Amino acid sequence: MRIIKNIKEMQATSMGLLREGKTIGFVPTMGALHEGHLSLLRAAKKDNDIVVVSIFVNPLQFGPGEDFERYPRDLEGDSEKLRKEGVDILFFPDMREMYPSDFRTYVEVEGLSEKLCGAFRPGHFRGVATVVTKLFNIVKPSRAYFGAKDYQQTVIIKRLVNDLNMDIEVIVCPTVREPDGLAMSSRNLYLNPEERRAALVIYRTLQEVAGLIKKGEKNPEVLKMHALKALGSEPLVSSIDYAGIYDPESLEEVSEIKGRVLIAIALRIGQTRLIDNIMVE
Ligand code: PAJ
Repeated sequence: MRIIKNIKEMQATSMGLLREGKTIGFVPTMGALHEGHLSLLRAAKKDNDIVVVSIFVNPLQFGPGEDFERYPRDLEGDSEKLRKEGVDILFFPDMREMYPSDFRTYVEVEGLSEKLCGAFRPGHFRGVATVVTKLFNIVKPSRAYFGAKDYQQTVIIKRLVNDLNMDIEVIVCPTVREPDGLAMSSRNLYLNPEERRAALVIYRTLQEVAGLIKKGEKNPEVLKMHALKALGSEPLVSSIDYAGIYDPESLEEVSEIKGRVLIAIALRIGQTRLIDNIMVE
């Protein structure tokens, strides 16, 4: 596995590969890799000649007081995992090269960035859209892979790829869970054993709400109330950002259950912010 840190070197390498007719599958990450990340690069390996994984903890998507400084970083462990998986290139850019002091350009996906998590993390999706645009321009992928766990992120990235006419196929892979249902996340490392147990309330609640929909409940308010009550009954849940039933495209709360709907939850267990979602037909 080749490790590239320099932006120009990554661009020249990708250019060379594309000229040889190779397809490039790209998985952007912030590191602290787990099975969720690995599932993306396995999908990329299946579909493409070359797999590039990036690790970059993007300061632009963290708000003041969020966990940028203490976000888990483990380059050695991560490289080992990527090497074992047969990844071709690890792109590990330097902060000052990504954001020099005269950096001035941002990508805003209006109308989607402010919904759901965006309402509680102002600027977060502007940071995500900006870094992903930069990474796409550097890595020049044929296909890029994202996890359904961060559902809003996938909607925003598909929108920006369309709106800015990027010639990239965006592929969304299913959420990988621990055996007990908790969605894998680098932030799960923050949870102590009691909080880890309490976090199960998220997936349990998603499943309960999905069960009610399948039994014929059509009123989103009833479903939302059920979710809030179930989440509120877990004493270690310190705050709930949102819980409800959303349109999978507009990310608006739905007024009636029909077609495909997204059930999504964001909350804090102690200090740790966790999100999860499931789609119901
Ligand atoms: P990060 O949280 O490291 O996630 C990298 C990719 O892994 C994202 O596409 C995310 O949705 C996916 N992922 C995380 N947990 C997953 C799980 N349990 N199952 C399946 N996929 C999972 O998301 C980011 O980084 C950043 O916002 C980034 C896109 C890299 C831009 O900085």
